[in-house]
Amino acid sequence: MPSLSWLCPLLGLTLIAPSFAQFGDYSDLRGPYCQRRGCCPGRQDDCSEPILGNNEVISEGTLCYCDDFCNRTRNEDCCPDFWTHCKGLPPPTDPPAPLLGCTYEGRVYPVNKQIKKNCNVCKCEKMGQRAEMLCEQHPCLIEPSITEAINSNYANYGWSASNYSKFWGHKLEEGIKLRLGTLQPQRFVMHMNPVRRIYDPHSLPREFDSEFKWPGWMSEIQDQGWCGSSWAITTAAVASDRFAILSKGREKVTLSAQHLLSCDRRGQQSCNGGYLDRAWSYIRKIGLVDEQCFPYSATNEKCRIPRRGDLVTANCQLPVNVDRRSKYKVAPAYRVGNETDIMYEILHSGPVQATMKVYHDFFTYKRGIYRHSPIATNDRTGYHSVRIVGWGEEYAPEGLKKYWKVANSWGPEWGENGHFRIVRGSNECEIESFVLGTWAEVENKLLLRNEI
Ligand SMILES: *[C@@H]1O[C@H](CO)[C@@H](O)[C@H](O)[C@H]1NC(C)=O
Ligand SMILES: *[C@@H]1O[C@H](CO)[C@@H](O)[C@H](O)[C@H]1NC(C)=O
Ligand SMILES: *[C@@H]1O[C@H](CO)[C@@H](O)[C@H](O)[C@H]1NC(C)=O
Repeated sequence: MPSLSWLCPLLGLTLIAPSFAQFGDYSDLRGPYCQRRGCCPGRQDDCSEPILGNNEVISEGTLCYCDDFCNRTRNEDCCPDFWTHCKGLPPPTDPPAPLLGCTYEGRVYPVNKQIKKNCNVCKCEKMGQRAEMLCEQHPCLIEPSITEAINSNYANYGWSASNYSKFWGHKLEEGIKLRLGTLQPQRFVMHMNPVRRIYDPHSLPREFDSEFKWPGWMSEIQDQGWCGSSWAITTAAVASDRFAILSKGREKVTLSAQHLLSCDRRGQQSCNGGYLDRAWSYIRKIGLVDEQCFPYSATNEKCRIPRRGDLVTANCQLPVNVDRRSKYKVAPAYRVGNETDIMYEILHSGPVQATMKVYHDFFTYKRGIYRHSPIATNDRTGYHSVRIVGWGEEYAPEGLKKYWKVANSWGPEWGENGHFRIVRGSNECEIESFVLGTWAEVENKLLLRNEI
Protein backbone atom coordinates (compact mmCIF):
# COMPACT_ATOMS: atom_id res chain seq x y z
CA MET A 1 0.00 0.00 0.00
CA PRO A 2 1.56 3.29 -1.02
CA SER A 3 2.08 5.88 1.63
CA LEU A 4 -0.78 8.26 1.97
CA SER A 5 -0.73 11.55 3.66
CA TRP A 6 -3.06 14.41 4.42
CA LEU A 7 -1.29 17.00 2.39
CA CYS A 8 0.59 17.09 -0.83
CA PRO A 9 2.95 19.98 -0.20
CA LEU A 10 5.34 18.81 -2.86
CA LEU A 11 2.73 19.18 -5.51
CA GLY A 12 1.64 22.51 -4.11
CA LEU A 13 -1.81 21.20 -3.38
CA THR A 14 -3.99 21.56 -0.39
CA LEU A 15 -6.54 18.93 0.27
CA ILE A 16 -9.88 20.28 1.30
CA ALA A 17 -12.10 18.29 3.56
CA PRO A 18 -15.46 18.75 1.96
CA SER A 19 -18.54 19.71 3.85
CA PHE A 20 -22.03 20.39 2.67
CA ALA A 21 -21.39 24.11 2.87
CA GLN A 22 -18.59 23.88 0.37
CA PHE A 23 -20.83 22.20 -2.12
CA GLY A 24 -22.85 25.41 -2.12
CA ASP A 25 -20.50 26.61 -4.83
CA TYR A 26 -21.67 23.87 -7.11
CA SER A 27 -25.02 24.65 -8.61
CA ASP A 28 -25.69 21.01 -9.37
CA LEU A 29 -25.66 20.19 -5.66
CA ARG A 30 -28.22 22.77 -4.68
CA GLY A 31 -30.98 21.00 -6.53
CA PRO A 32 -33.83 20.96 -6.97
CA TYR A 33 -34.00 17.19 -6.95
CA CYS A 34 -37.15 15.91 -5.20
CA GLN A 35 -38.90 19.06 -6.23
CA ARG A 36 -38.23 18.13 -9.83
CA ARG A 37 -38.52 14.35 -9.49
CA GLY A 38 -41.43 14.18 -7.07
CA CYS A 39 -41.55 12.29 -3.76
CA CYS A 40 -42.28 8.57 -3.65
CA PRO A 41 -43.90 6.49 -0.92
CA GLY A 42 -42.33 3.27 0.35
CA ARG A 43 -39.30 1.97 -1.41
CA GLN A 44 -38.78 2.78 -5.09
CA ASP A 45 -35.29 2.31 -6.36
CA ASP A 46 -35.89 4.36 -9.46
CA CYS A 47 -37.13 7.33 -7.48
CA SER A 48 -33.80 9.05 -7.93
CA GLU A 49 -32.05 11.97 -9.54
CA PRO A 50 -28.45 12.27 -10.70
CA ILE A 51 -26.34 14.36 -8.42
CA LEU A 52 -22.81 15.65 -9.10
CA GLY A 53 -23.72 14.70 -12.64
CA ASN A 54 -22.32 17.73 -14.42
CA ASN A 55 -18.84 16.70 -13.55
CA GLU A 56 -17.37 14.60 -16.32
CA VAL A 57 -14.99 12.86 -13.92
CA ILE A 58 -17.85 11.11 -12.20
CA SER A 59 -19.75 10.26 -15.28
CA GLU A 60 -20.49 6.86 -13.75
CA GLY A 61 -23.25 8.91 -12.14
CA THR A 62 -24.02 9.33 -8.51
CA LEU A 63 -27.70 9.23 -7.59
CA CYS A 64 -29.74 10.64 -4.73
CA TYR A 65 -33.19 9.34 -3.77
CA CYS A 66 -36.60 10.83 -2.96
CA ASP A 67 -38.43 7.72 -1.70
CA ASP A 68 -39.34 7.19 1.95
CA PHE A 69 -36.71 4.52 2.33
CA CYS A 70 -33.81 6.75 1.35
CA ASN A 71 -32.78 7.15 4.97
CA ARG A 72 -33.10 3.46 5.88
CA THR A 73 -32.27 0.90 3.28
CA ARG A 74 -29.38 2.65 1.71
CA ASN A 75 -26.53 4.55 3.10
CA GLU A 76 -28.45 7.80 3.79
CA ASP A 77 -28.62 8.83 0.19
CA CYS A 78 -31.62 11.13 0.33
CA CYS A 79 -31.49 14.10 -2.00
CA PRO A 80 -30.52 17.33 -0.25
CA ASP A 81 -34.08 18.71 -0.60
CA PHE A 82 -35.84 15.46 0.46
CA TRP A 83 -36.46 16.61 4.01
CA THR A 84 -37.69 20.09 3.17
CA HIS A 85 -39.65 19.18 0.07
CA CYS A 86 -41.06 15.70 0.83
CA LYS A 87 -41.29 15.83 4.62
CA GLY A 88 -42.01 19.50 5.09
CA LEU A 89 -39.24 19.89 7.61
CA PRO A 90 -37.62 23.29 8.05
CA PRO A 91 -34.40 23.77 6.14
CA PRO A 92 -31.49 22.69 8.29
CA THR A 93 -29.44 25.38 9.86
CA ASP A 94 -26.41 23.17 10.15
CA PRO A 95 -24.85 21.20 7.36
CA PRO A 96 -27.06 18.15 7.73
CA ALA A 97 -25.88 16.02 5.19
CA PRO A 98 -24.20 12.83 4.55
CA LEU A 99 -20.84 13.17 3.03
CA LEU A 100 -20.98 13.17 -0.71
CA GLY A 101 -17.41 13.26 -1.85
CA CYS A 102 -14.14 15.10 -1.91
CA THR A 103 -13.58 18.57 -3.23
CA TYR A 104 -10.17 18.67 -4.81
CA GLU A 105 -8.74 21.41 -6.98
CA GLY A 106 -12.15 22.84 -7.61
CA ARG A 107 -13.83 19.59 -8.56
CA VAL A 108 -15.96 17.13 -6.67
CA TYR A 109 -15.19 13.42 -6.63
CA PRO A 110 -17.25 10.59 -5.13
CA VAL A 111 -15.92 8.37 -2.40
CA ASN A 112 -13.45 5.73 -3.68
CA LYS A 113 -12.77 7.61 -6.90
CA GLN A 114 -9.10 7.43 -7.89
CA ILE A 115 -7.32 10.00 -9.98
CA LYS A 116 -3.71 10.30 -11.10
CA LYS A 117 -1.82 13.42 -10.16
CA ASN A 118 1.40 13.44 -12.19
CA CYS A 119 3.11 10.23 -10.94
CA ASN A 120 0.96 9.76 -7.84
CA VAL A 121 -2.41 8.12 -7.32
CA CYS A 122 -4.96 10.05 -5.25
CA LYS A 123 -8.05 8.43 -3.79
CA CYS A 124 -11.16 9.94 -2.25
CA GLU A 125 -11.30 8.10 1.06
CA LYS A 126 -14.23 8.05 3.46
CA MET A 127 -13.07 8.82 6.96
CA GLY A 128 -15.91 8.63 9.43
CA GLN A 129 -18.27 11.46 8.61
CA ARG A 130 -15.97 13.07 6.12
CA ALA A 131 -14.06 12.19 3.02
CA GLU A 132 -10.69 13.37 1.88
CA MET A 133 -8.56 13.06 -1.18
CA LEU A 134 -5.36 11.30 -0.16
CA CYS A 135 -2.36 11.27 -2.46
CA GLU A 136 0.79 9.17 -2.67
CA GLN A 137 3.91 11.21 -2.03
CA HIS A 138 6.47 9.92 -4.53
CA PRO A 139 8.78 12.51 -6.08
CA CYS A 140 7.97 12.61 -9.78
CA LEU A 141 10.46 12.71 -12.64
CA ILE A 142 9.04 16.05 -13.76
CA GLU A 143 8.12 18.27 -10.83
CA PRO A 144 6.52 21.56 -11.87
CA SER A 145 8.10 23.19 -8.81
CA ILE A 146 11.60 22.35 -10.09
CA THR A 147 10.85 23.32 -13.67
CA GLU A 148 9.40 26.65 -12.56
CA ALA A 149 12.27 27.40 -10.19
CA ILE A 150 14.82 26.80 -12.95
CA ASN A 151 12.94 28.79 -15.54
CA SER A 152 12.35 31.76 -13.27
CA ASN A 153 16.07 32.04 -12.67
CA TYR A 154 17.74 31.43 -16.02
CA ALA A 155 20.25 34.21 -15.34
CA ASN A 156 21.49 32.34 -12.31
CA TYR A 157 21.39 28.73 -13.50
CA GLY A 158 22.27 29.33 -17.14
CA TRP A 159 19.88 26.73 -18.53
CA SER A 160 16.16 26.29 -18.95
CA ALA A 161 13.88 23.41 -18.14
CA SER A 162 10.93 21.81 -19.84
CA ASN A 163 8.08 19.43 -19.20
CA TYR A 164 8.65 16.31 -21.29
CA SER A 165 5.45 14.43 -21.92
CA LYS A 166 7.24 11.10 -22.05
CA PHE A 167 8.61 11.72 -18.54
CA TRP A 168 5.42 13.22 -17.11
CA GLY A 169 3.51 10.80 -14.88
CA HIS A 170 6.63 8.75 -14.05
CA LYS A 171 8.28 8.53 -10.67
CA LEU A 172 11.79 9.84 -10.12
CA GLU A 173 12.65 6.32 -9.01
CA GLU A 174 11.70 4.94 -12.43
CA GLY A 175 13.84 7.56 -14.16
CA ILE A 176 16.87 6.74 -12.03
CA LYS A 177 16.40 3.03 -12.58
CA LEU A 178 15.35 2.90 -16.22
CA ARG A 179 16.56 6.08 -17.95
CA LEU A 180 20.20 5.83 -16.81
CA GLY A 181 21.87 2.46 -16.35
CA THR A 182 25.58 2.79 -15.67
CA LEU A 183 27.00 1.06 -12.64
CA GLN A 184 29.69 3.01 -10.87
CA PRO A 185 33.11 1.74 -11.89
CA GLN A 186 34.64 -0.64 -9.40
CA ARG A 187 37.55 0.74 -7.47
CA PHE A 188 40.29 -1.02 -9.41
CA VAL A 189 38.89 0.41 -12.62
CA MET A 190 38.78 3.90 -11.14
CA HIS A 191 42.47 3.55 -10.45
CA MET A 192 43.24 2.78 -14.07
CA ASN A 193 45.91 5.28 -15.13
CA PRO A 194 44.99 7.77 -17.80
CA VAL A 195 47.03 7.66 -20.98
CA ARG A 196 49.69 10.34 -21.24
CA ARG A 197 49.67 12.58 -24.25
CA ILE A 198 52.26 15.10 -25.33
CA TYR A 199 50.75 18.25 -26.81
CA ASP A 200 50.52 21.96 -26.23
CA PRO A 201 47.18 22.67 -24.49
CA HIS A 202 47.15 26.17 -26.00
CA SER A 203 47.07 24.73 -29.48
CA LEU A 204 43.60 23.27 -28.91
CA PRO A 205 40.75 25.08 -30.70
CA ARG A 206 38.27 27.07 -28.61
CA GLU A 207 35.40 25.21 -30.20
CA PHE A 208 35.07 21.79 -31.73
CA ASP A 209 32.21 19.60 -32.85
CA SER A 210 32.74 16.05 -34.14
CA GLU A 211 29.46 16.29 -35.98
CA PHE A 212 30.92 19.11 -38.12
CA LYS A 213 34.33 17.60 -38.53
CA TRP A 214 33.01 14.17 -39.56
CA PRO A 215 29.59 14.93 -41.04
CA GLY A 216 27.39 11.90 -41.52
CA TRP A 217 29.78 9.57 -39.75
CA MET A 218 28.77 10.13 -36.14
CA SER A 219 26.18 8.00 -34.36
CA GLU A 220 22.66 9.30 -34.31
CA ILE A 221 20.82 10.21 -31.13
CA GLN A 222 19.03 7.19 -29.73
CA ASP A 223 16.24 6.73 -27.26
CA GLN A 224 16.99 4.06 -24.70
CA GLY A 225 13.31 3.84 -23.70
CA TRP A 226 12.48 2.61 -20.19
CA CYS A 227 15.56 0.42 -20.02
CA GLY A 228 18.69 1.27 -18.01
CA SER A 229 20.97 0.63 -20.96
CA SER A 230 23.15 3.75 -21.25
CA TRP A 231 26.16 1.49 -20.59
CA ALA A 232 25.43 -0.48 -23.77
CA ILE A 233 24.21 2.40 -25.92
CA THR A 234 27.19 4.69 -25.32
CA THR A 235 29.71 1.88 -25.69
CA ALA A 236 28.23 0.81 -29.02
CA ALA A 237 27.97 4.44 -30.18
CA VAL A 238 31.55 5.44 -29.30
CA ALA A 239 32.85 2.27 -30.96
CA SER A 240 30.73 2.99 -34.07
CA ASP A 241 32.05 6.57 -34.32
CA ARG A 242 35.58 5.32 -34.15
CA PHE A 243 35.05 2.69 -36.83
CA ALA A 244 33.86 5.45 -39.16
CA ILE A 245 36.72 7.82 -38.31
CA LEU A 246 39.56 5.31 -38.39
CA SER A 247 38.33 3.77 -41.64
CA LYS A 248 37.77 7.24 -43.14
CA GLY A 249 34.10 6.46 -43.64
CA ARG A 250 34.50 3.06 -45.28
CA GLU A 251 33.21 1.31 -42.18
CA LYS A 252 30.38 3.60 -41.22
CA VAL A 253 28.42 1.24 -39.06
CA THR A 254 25.86 1.40 -36.27
CA LEU A 255 26.91 -1.26 -33.83
CA SER A 256 24.23 -3.12 -31.92
CA ALA A 257 23.65 -1.96 -28.34
CA GLN A 258 21.14 -4.81 -28.03
CA HIS A 259 23.96 -7.28 -28.66
CA LEU A 260 25.66 -6.02 -25.48
CA LEU A 261 22.38 -5.79 -23.58
CA SER A 262 21.36 -9.34 -24.41
CA CYS A 263 24.68 -11.16 -24.60
CA ASP A 264 27.15 -9.41 -22.27
CA ARG A 265 25.57 -10.99 -19.21
CA ARG A 266 28.52 -11.75 -16.99
CA GLY A 267 28.39 -9.34 -14.04
CA GLN A 268 26.06 -7.11 -16.02
CA GLN A 269 22.41 -6.38 -15.36
CA SER A 270 21.00 -5.72 -18.82
CA CYS A 271 18.18 -3.13 -18.50
CA ASN A 272 19.08 -2.61 -14.84
CA GLY A 273 22.52 -1.26 -15.65
CA GLY A 274 26.02 -2.38 -16.55
CA TYR A 275 29.73 -1.69 -16.11
CA LEU A 276 31.57 0.08 -18.89
CA ASP A 277 34.86 -1.78 -18.50
CA ARG A 278 33.04 -5.10 -18.91
CA ALA A 279 31.20 -3.83 -21.98
CA TRP A 280 34.50 -2.77 -23.56
CA SER A 281 36.18 -6.04 -22.79
CA TYR A 282 33.22 -7.88 -24.38
CA ILE A 283 33.72 -5.93 -27.63
CA ARG A 284 37.43 -6.55 -27.46
CA LYS A 285 37.12 -10.31 -27.02
CA ILE A 286 33.86 -11.22 -28.75
CA GLY A 287 33.04 -8.25 -31.00
CA LEU A 288 29.67 -6.80 -31.93
CA VAL A 289 27.30 -7.20 -34.85
CA ASP A 290 25.51 -4.24 -36.39
CA GLU A 291 22.18 -2.74 -35.42
CA GLN A 292 20.36 -4.22 -38.41
CA CYS A 293 21.43 -7.71 -37.40
CA PHE A 294 20.29 -7.32 -33.78
CA PRO A 295 18.03 -4.24 -33.50
CA TYR A 296 17.49 -2.39 -30.25
CA SER A 297 14.36 -3.47 -28.40
CA ALA A 298 14.91 -1.85 -24.96
CA THR A 299 14.34 -5.25 -23.33
CA ASN A 300 16.55 -7.97 -21.92
CA GLU A 301 15.55 -10.31 -24.75
CA LYS A 302 17.47 -13.53 -25.23
CA CYS A 303 20.91 -13.44 -26.82
CA ARG A 304 20.80 -14.70 -30.39
CA ILE A 305 24.37 -14.04 -31.52
CA PRO A 306 26.76 -16.95 -30.97
CA ARG A 307 29.87 -16.06 -28.98
CA ARG A 308 32.10 -17.75 -31.48
CA GLY A 309 32.02 -17.30 -35.18
CA ASP A 310 31.72 -14.40 -37.60
CA LEU A 311 28.97 -12.27 -39.10
CA VAL A 312 27.94 -15.16 -41.34
CA THR A 313 27.55 -17.53 -38.38
CA ALA A 314 25.44 -14.85 -36.73
CA ASN A 315 23.23 -14.59 -39.83
CA CYS A 316 24.08 -10.94 -40.42
CA GLN A 317 24.23 -9.26 -43.79
CA LEU A 318 27.81 -8.55 -44.79
CA PRO A 319 28.83 -4.92 -45.36
CA VAL A 320 29.01 -3.80 -48.98
CA ASN A 321 32.19 -1.70 -49.11
CA VAL A 322 34.72 -3.76 -47.24
CA ASP A 323 35.62 -7.38 -47.11
CA ARG A 324 34.55 -7.91 -43.52
CA ARG A 325 33.33 -11.21 -42.16
CA SER A 326 34.49 -10.92 -38.57
CA LYS A 327 32.48 -9.18 -35.86
CA TYR A 328 33.48 -5.61 -35.04
CA LYS A 329 36.16 -5.59 -32.36
CA VAL A 330 38.15 -2.91 -30.60
CA ALA A 331 41.51 -2.64 -28.83
CA PRO A 332 41.41 -2.25 -25.02
CA ALA A 333 39.62 0.89 -23.89
CA TYR A 334 41.81 3.53 -22.26
CA ARG A 335 41.13 6.27 -19.81
CA VAL A 336 41.59 9.94 -20.65
CA GLY A 337 42.80 12.17 -17.84
CA ASN A 338 41.76 15.81 -17.59
CA GLU A 339 39.95 18.56 -19.46
CA THR A 340 42.58 19.25 -22.10
CA ASP A 341 43.43 15.56 -22.54
CA ILE A 342 39.76 14.89 -23.24
CA MET A 343 39.73 17.71 -25.81
CA TYR A 344 42.86 16.39 -27.48
CA GLU A 345 41.38 12.90 -27.60
CA ILE A 346 38.09 14.03 -29.20
CA LEU A 347 39.89 16.25 -31.69
CA HIS A 348 42.15 13.46 -32.92
CA SER A 349 40.21 10.27 -32.35
CA GLY A 350 36.53 11.14 -32.00
CA PRO A 351 33.80 11.20 -29.35
CA VAL A 352 34.53 9.73 -25.92
CA GLN A 353 32.42 7.95 -23.35
CA ALA A 354 31.85 9.72 -20.03
CA THR A 355 30.06 8.76 -16.85
CA MET A 356 28.09 11.41 -14.99
CA LYS A 357 26.08 11.70 -11.82
CA VAL A 358 22.48 12.54 -12.66
CA TYR A 359 20.44 14.70 -10.30
CA HIS A 360 16.69 15.20 -10.35
CA ASP A 361 16.82 18.51 -12.24
CA PHE A 362 18.77 17.04 -15.18
CA PHE A 363 15.73 15.19 -16.56
CA THR A 364 14.03 18.53 -17.28
CA TYR A 365 16.99 20.11 -19.16
CA LYS A 366 15.86 21.95 -22.28
CA ARG A 367 18.67 24.28 -23.40
CA GLY A 368 21.65 26.22 -22.16
CA ILE A 369 24.76 25.20 -20.26
CA TYR A 370 23.79 22.74 -17.58
CA ARG A 371 25.09 22.96 -14.05
CA HIS A 372 23.42 21.03 -11.26
CA SER A 373 21.12 23.43 -9.42
CA PRO A 374 20.71 23.43 -5.64
CA ILE A 375 17.02 22.54 -6.06
CA ALA A 376 15.90 19.12 -4.88
CA THR A 377 19.42 18.12 -3.88
CA ASN A 378 18.13 15.60 -1.37
CA ASP A 379 16.46 13.52 -4.02
CA ARG A 380 17.90 10.32 -5.37
CA THR A 381 20.72 10.38 -7.90
CA GLY A 382 22.16 7.81 -10.28
CA TYR A 383 24.99 7.20 -12.73
CA HIS A 384 24.57 7.56 -16.46
CA SER A 385 26.90 7.31 -19.39
CA VAL A 386 26.93 9.75 -22.26
CA ARG A 387 29.03 10.56 -25.31
CA ILE A 388 31.03 13.80 -25.34
CA VAL A 389 31.14 14.96 -28.97
CA GLY A 390 32.70 18.41 -28.70
CA TRP A 391 33.18 21.60 -26.73
CA GLY A 392 32.92 25.36 -26.95
CA GLU A 393 32.59 28.54 -24.97
CA GLU A 394 30.03 31.26 -24.60
CA TYR A 395 30.14 34.81 -23.29
CA ALA A 396 27.83 35.40 -20.36
CA PRO A 397 27.41 38.43 -18.07
CA GLU A 398 29.48 36.69 -15.42
CA GLY A 399 32.31 35.88 -17.84
CA LEU A 400 33.35 33.22 -20.28
CA LYS A 401 31.53 29.94 -19.87
CA LYS A 402 33.21 26.82 -21.15
CA TYR A 403 31.11 23.81 -21.97
CA TRP A 404 31.12 20.27 -23.32
CA LYS A 405 28.67 19.28 -26.03
CA VAL A 406 27.32 15.88 -25.10
CA ALA A 407 25.02 13.37 -26.80
CA ASN A 408 22.35 11.83 -24.57
CA SER A 409 20.16 8.79 -25.25
CA TRP A 410 16.68 10.14 -24.50
CA GLY A 411 15.62 10.76 -28.09
CA PRO A 412 16.21 13.74 -30.41
CA GLU A 413 13.35 15.79 -28.95
CA TRP A 414 15.03 15.99 -25.54
CA GLY A 415 17.38 18.92 -24.80
CA GLU A 416 19.21 20.55 -27.72
CA ASN A 417 18.32 18.03 -30.45
CA GLY A 418 19.08 15.15 -28.13
CA HIS A 419 22.28 16.79 -26.83
CA PHE A 420 23.06 18.92 -23.82
CA ARG A 421 25.82 21.31 -22.95
CA ILE A 422 27.40 21.14 -19.53
CA VAL A 423 29.98 23.27 -17.73
CA ARG A 424 33.53 22.24 -18.71
CA GLY A 425 36.71 22.25 -16.65
CA SER A 426 35.24 21.86 -13.16
CA ASN A 427 34.23 18.19 -13.23
CA GLU A 428 30.55 19.14 -13.12
CA CYS A 429 28.48 16.09 -12.10
CA GLU A 430 31.78 14.11 -12.15
CA ILE A 431 31.64 14.11 -15.95
CA GLU A 432 35.41 14.50 -16.34
CA SER A 433 36.37 11.82 -13.85
CA PHE A 434 35.92 8.64 -15.87
CA VAL A 435 36.31 9.23 -19.59
CA LEU A 436 37.10 6.41 -21.99
CA GLY A 437 38.28 6.06 -25.57
CA THR A 438 39.21 3.10 -27.76
CA TRP A 439 40.74 2.06 -31.05
CA ALA A 440 38.53 0.33 -33.57
CA GLU A 441 39.95 -2.65 -35.42
CA VAL A 442 38.98 -1.52 -38.87
CA GLU A 443 39.01 -3.74 -41.92
CA ASN A 444 41.49 -2.46 -44.47
CA LYS A 445 40.71 -4.86 -47.25
CA LEU A 446 38.35 -3.12 -49.64
CA LEU A 447 36.06 -5.07 -51.85
CA LEU A 448 37.40 -5.02 -55.38
CA ARG A 449 34.40 -3.56 -57.09
CA ASN A 450 34.71 -0.45 -54.95
CA GLU A 451 38.26 0.12 -55.99
CA ILE A 452 37.49 0.24 -59.69
C1 LIG B 1 -36.28 7.95 8.51
O1 LIG B 1 -37.13 9.04 8.61
C2 LIG B 1 -38.33 8.80 9.38
C3 LIG B 1 -39.13 10.04 9.32
O2 LIG B 1 -39.54 10.30 8.02
C4 LIG B 1 -38.02 8.42 10.79
O3 LIG B 1 -39.18 8.07 11.47
C5 LIG B 1 -37.05 7.25 10.78
O4 LIG B 1 -36.62 6.99 12.09
C6 LIG B 1 -35.85 7.56 9.90
N1 LIG B 1 -35.03 6.39 9.83
C7 LIG B 1 -33.75 6.37 10.04
C8 LIG B 1 -33.06 5.05 9.88
O5 LIG B 1 -33.12 7.40 10.29
C1 LIG C 1 3.28 18.19 -18.74
O1 LIG C 1 2.95 17.47 -19.89
C2 LIG C 1 1.90 16.54 -19.69
C3 LIG C 1 1.74 15.71 -20.95
O2 LIG C 1 1.92 16.43 -22.10
C4 LIG C 1 0.63 17.28 -19.30
O3 LIG C 1 -0.43 16.37 -19.11
C5 LIG C 1 0.91 18.03 -18.02
O4 LIG C 1 -0.21 18.78 -17.64
C6 LIG C 1 2.09 18.97 -18.20
N1 LIG C 1 2.42 19.53 -16.91
C7 LIG C 1 2.61 20.83 -16.72
C8 LIG C 1 2.92 21.26 -15.33
O5 LIG C 1 2.53 21.63 -17.62
C1 LIG D 1 46.23 17.62 -18.26
O1 LIG D 1 47.28 16.72 -18.16
C2 LIG D 1 48.34 16.96 -19.11
C3 LIG D 1 49.35 15.86 -18.97
O2 LIG D 1 48.79 14.64 -19.35
C4 LIG D 1 48.94 18.34 -18.89
O3 LIG D 1 49.90 18.61 -19.85
C5 LIG D 1 47.81 19.37 -18.98
O4 LIG D 1 48.30 20.65 -18.68
C6 LIG D 1 46.67 19.03 -18.02
N1 LIG D 1 45.58 19.93 -18.29
C7 LIG D 1 44.87 20.49 -17.32
C8 LIG D 1 43.75 21.35 -17.72
O5 LIG D 1 45.12 20.29 -16.13
